[in-house]
Amino acid sequence: MTSLARADALPPELSATPKPGVVTVETKSGAFNFASDPGETLLYAGLRSGLTLPHECATGTCGTCRARVMSGEVEICWDAAPGAAKLKRDKGDVLMCQARALGDCVLRVPSEVAQKPVRHQIPAHRTGIVENVRRLTPDVTRFEVALSEPMDFDAGQFVVVEAPGLEGARAYSMVNYGPGADRIELVVKRKPGGGFGDWLFDGGAAEGARIKLFGPLGRATFHPEENRNLLMIAGGSGIAGMMSILARAAAHDYFRDRKGYVFFGVRTLADGFYLEQFARSLRDGHGNLEVTLAISNEDVGSDARHPDHPDVKLATGFVHEVAGQAMVGRYEDVMAYVAGPPPMVDGALRTLIAQGGLSPSSIRYDKFG
Ligand code: FES
Repeated sequence: MTSLARADALPPELSATPKPGVVTVETKSGAFNFASDPGETLLYAGLRSGLTLPHECATGTCGTCRARVMSGEVEICWDAAPGAAKLKRDKGDVLMCQARALGDCVLRVPSEVAQKPVRHQIPAHRTGIVENVRRLTPDVTRFEVALSEPMDFDAGQFVVVEAPGLEGARAYSMVNYGPGADRIELVVKRKPGGGFGDWLFDGGAAEGARIKLFGPLGRATFHPEENRNLLMIAGGSGIAGMMSILARAAAHDYFRDRKGYVFFGVRTLADGFYLEQFARSLRDGHGNLEVTLAISNEDVGSDARHPDHPDVKLATGFVHEVAGQAMVGRYEDVMAYVAGPPPMVDGALRTLIAQGGLSPSSIRYDKFG
């Protein structure tokens, strides 16, 4: 960890112990104050107080939470965060999700910020016990977290998770949906050198462990009252948030009147998961829901169906290309949701904007891949 001191702050060697502080943020919509607990990032403290501070990933990768330290001293948690690459560090710029106050400080945030009027969905710190860890495919695992306090969240939102003994935090979307949930389901795809994935997959250490969570976060949310046709394009574990959207849609019998198109990208047929859940959604979808498994590394031929779940369509190709071909002429009144690895998300956005003619306000995604 490194610390960043402004000219009017104490030398780092005298002040490197995190202390509670009052943080003032100067924004385009006025100045706001919030309290920051020792060891808490500026972003979490501000969001917890109900401020709509700019952010996307909350884990140091996107760069959205940029702020400039005008006075006071902060500690940088992850100096090499990818989201910090374009910061003007010599001017005091920091990522709020990767900086902690070492006492009172003043930040400048170059955007409009508001105080949320409704408290029930304001993000908060919780702990939880990991339960029911279960392998879905050789490199995908699902698990549940029994929460220390119930959490309201919108379908499509995520939480940031920290596990004992592991450095850093990871963001995962909720698979389930339910008001005041006391339990959430998350899904993790194992990546090379992925600390949390390795911890979850190996040796049974995760089952019964207590983890820390912060959330809910994320704006790629589904609201039935918007009454739009739904297009979901997901790769790998990005399908998690789409399952939550399908769960909320089912609770509203949403597909009685509206169309839904789900495109789920995996490498091989054996990499597909949540197929029984898809089959159930299709049975309840009044013929207005389509689910296509897009297989990138195997040729499944044309007009193929899943051998065990014939209502699920199969197609060969990258998921954004498969979706692009299947959606020609069907973009009317569509709200699109995208989640997955960054190259897939970029490809899907290009397809939706250039081919589908969708405006940015009709596309929802969060960058935390
Ligand atoms: Fe802080 Fe993404 S880098 S929100």
